[in-house]
Amino acid sequence: MNNTIIEAHGLKRYYHRGAETVKALDGVDISIREGEMVSILGPSGSGKTTLINLLSCLDAPSEGTLTVAGKSVAGLEEDQLVEVRRGVLGFVFQQFHLLPTLTVTENVELPLTFLGRTPVPNRTKEVLAMVGLSDRATHLPNELSGGQMQRVAIARALMIEPKILVADEPTGNLDRKTGESIFQLFRQLTTKGLAIIITTHNTAFGDEADRAITLEDGKIVSEETPGRPRAA
Ligand SMILES: Nc1ncnc2c1ncn2[C@@H]1O[C@H](COP(=O)(O)OP(=O)(O)OP(=O)(O)O)[C@@H](O)[C@H]1O
Ligand SMILES: [Mg+2]
Repeated sequence: MNNTIIEAHGLKRYYHRGAETVKALDGVDISIREGEMVSILGPSGSGKTTLINLLSCLDAPSEGTLTVAGKSVAGLEEDQLVEVRRGVLGFVFQQFHLLPTLTVTENVELPLTFLGRTPVPNRTKEVLAMVGLSDRATHLPNELSGGQMQRVAIARALMIEPKILVADEPTGNLDRKTGESIFQLFRQLTTKGLAIIITTHNTAFGDEADRAITLEDGKIVSEETPGRPRAA
């Protein structure tokens, strides 16, 4: 699978605050293929969130070209960005963002409710099996561990069958071992052609990714391909 799903050239995001300009992202070139897992590393303030927000069309670049799933994104307004995201992008957050009064199944089906779709029979069971939570379908979030809550959030993101999954610091609230198991889960999910982009502070997780990109001051300073051999 060598199809490019995201392509960016000279990507910049500047914030203007009075006379001051913050160059949050300062000229990034990046290309991501279907089924590729890319981690974005770098110190706090280096531009990781800014970059992932641009690549996932939550924000628009100040300059540069960006194509996501075949659509040119630069210069689009928010309502147009929503259209690009819809059905293409799935999101996972550091804080999980599960609704406490809904069961695991209900939380996972929420995106379909928002899209006005009824769940395809067995899809929920399928995604819960994919994240290893078949036996927790009727639990409430407060009956789960942190790692399990993040797995629910990942299952929820998978419900719409996205082409790209983005996760900003998905292991930030988890201990090291649990964080590592979440990275391994992400890696398994890419085998179905899903592209996954993750920001993390933890360099130790880098070798689960096909590519680890390090940012400093809004620029890519290194790009490694640790790419553990894939299981046959
Ligand atoms: N809305 C904003 N207005 C002004 N400056 C901003 C804004 N958002 C981010 N920045 C600045 O852009 C730079 C990059 O921020 P960003 O959030 O992308 O960093 P990060 O690498 O994700 O950091 P962290 O590891 O702490 O999450 C920082 O200097 C930040 O202060
Ligand atoms: Mg950040």
